[in-house]
Amino acid sequence: MKKISAHPFRVYSGSRGKITIFDEETLNYAEVGSSHLVILNAFKIARDPKKVIISMPLSKQKEAWRVLKELDELGFFSRSKSIPYPKVFNLNPDIRAFRIALTEECNLKCPECFVTKNRNNLKTMSHATLETVIKKTISYGTSEKITYHFFGGEPLIRFDHIKRTVDMVNEAVKTRKMIKPFYTMTTNLTFLNDNMIRFFKKNDFKIGVSIDGPENINNKFRIYKNGRGSFKDTKHNYYRLIKAGIDTHVLITPHAGFLDQLPKIFRGTLKTFPSKTITINTPFHYRSLAWNIDGEKYAQILVKLVRIARKNKVTIDSAASPILFSLANNIKRHCPCMFNNGYIMASISTEGHLSFCSQNWNDVLLTNFKGKMNIPIKRISQCSKCEARHICGGPCPAFQIISGKEIDRQKCRFMQTILKEIAMNAKIFGE
Ligand SMILES: C[S@@+](CC[C@H](N)C(=O)[O-])C[C@H]1O[C@@H](n2cnc3c(N)ncnc32)[C@H](O)[C@@H]1O
Ligand code: SF4
Ligand code: SF4
Repeated sequence: MKKISAHPFRVYSGSRGKITIFDEETLNYAEVGSSHLVILNAFKIARDPKKVIISMPLSKQKEAWRVLKELDELGFFSRSKSIPYPKVFNLNPDIRAFRIALTEECNLKCPECFVTKNRNNLKTMSHATLETVIKKTISYGTSEKITYHFFGGEPLIRFDHIKRTVDMVNEAVKTRKMIKPFYTMTTNLTFLNDNMIRFFKKNDFKIGVSIDGPENINNKFRIYKNGRGSFKDTKHNYYRLIKAGIDTHVLITPHAGFLDQLPKIFRGTLKTFPSKTITINTPFHYRSLAWNIDGEKYAQILVKLVRIARKNKVTIDSAASPILFSLANNIKRHCPCMFNNGYIMASISTEGHLSFCSQNWNDVLLTNFKGKMNIPIKRISQCSKCEARHICGGPCPAFQIISGKEIDRQKCRFMQTILKEIAMNAKIFGE
């Protein structure tokens, strides 16, 4: 027991299926007995076990050694020196998925849209760029199954580009240049026709449909250019996809003014739109990318949504998902951009530029891209002391590049709150 120190980040799955989260900030929520807590709390001041024992009254020191040994057996201590939290983390991830912005054009005019509101001159990918992009991406799928995700603006406006991509890729699969990929898409679904339905069914598309809640809420935000709401058209077409047996799910973008209603919106959407999974997009400012929402409240509400999702046996994908994954598997998040499997979905803009998320912040063309791109994630001094550092991964590099700011305070409030919320609601996540 000589060189042990309290491990600052540990998830312990107890014998009765309970999860205990232990770090300096969350000790109070740990599911251990009061004698264990006394010892663990002592590590806040003395990092060395001997000093911890000495800090106890003489009459309690023998018992303290016993409890300390028990905690050690439970895996609460680490013998390795803690690794310093680097100030700059270089992001050079592996890419297993491509989000292709076929066009920035859209038939809707959603008020906070980060694509249509952000640009004066909406562009469309040319045939030549599309073909170059597809030829280049094929090489990523030779030994791994990659994903092509069609995006926009509204991707269905360029159904011709979707067909061309699938034709080229299917040809590459036939000639064994690549493994059959996944095809996915995010759409407002208002343009759907029978021809498209047959095509999506034949090619096993998985389709994400954006709906911001019930008709009265959705139609405040997801509107046509003439101000008419899109709810009825999207709902009608959603059922056509379901009837055709196409894997379909919903994406909800919450709006700050309706945050309190999110659990109700979520339940209602589950009832109206049959879906095995629901994605909750984190709302951010269309230009600066700053989180457009109270981070603390958002964390509390997302935990409520996880509870509702579990009850209804559906999965939920949200800003809480990578955190839950990292806690459940005791994995530190070194950067905020990667998926749970350590890969990222890179985006390709209409002009063929490659960025490491849905935002268009990089001017390197995919065709000129060789090897790995190094993107620095600059952490601020608060990060090294922050209780959420291992589940957060640090500030978002796209936010830093686009806004010119170092840190998004609402995101930090979210990260710090969600850690505590998960600890307090450990039973929901225990499975
Ligand atoms: C940009 S749209 C493109 C695909 C398609 N037009 C659609 O609406 O599904 C993709 C997703 O981004 C979401 N979105 C748009 N602007 C956003 C913002 N400022 N914050 C968060 N999500 C946003 C939309 O609600 C939609 O679910
Ligand atoms: S439908 Fe999609 S691309 Fe079009 S304005 Fe709305 S969020 Fe933006
Ligand atoms: S929550 Fe904020 S301060 Fe904490 S690690 Fe993340 S970015 Fe840094």
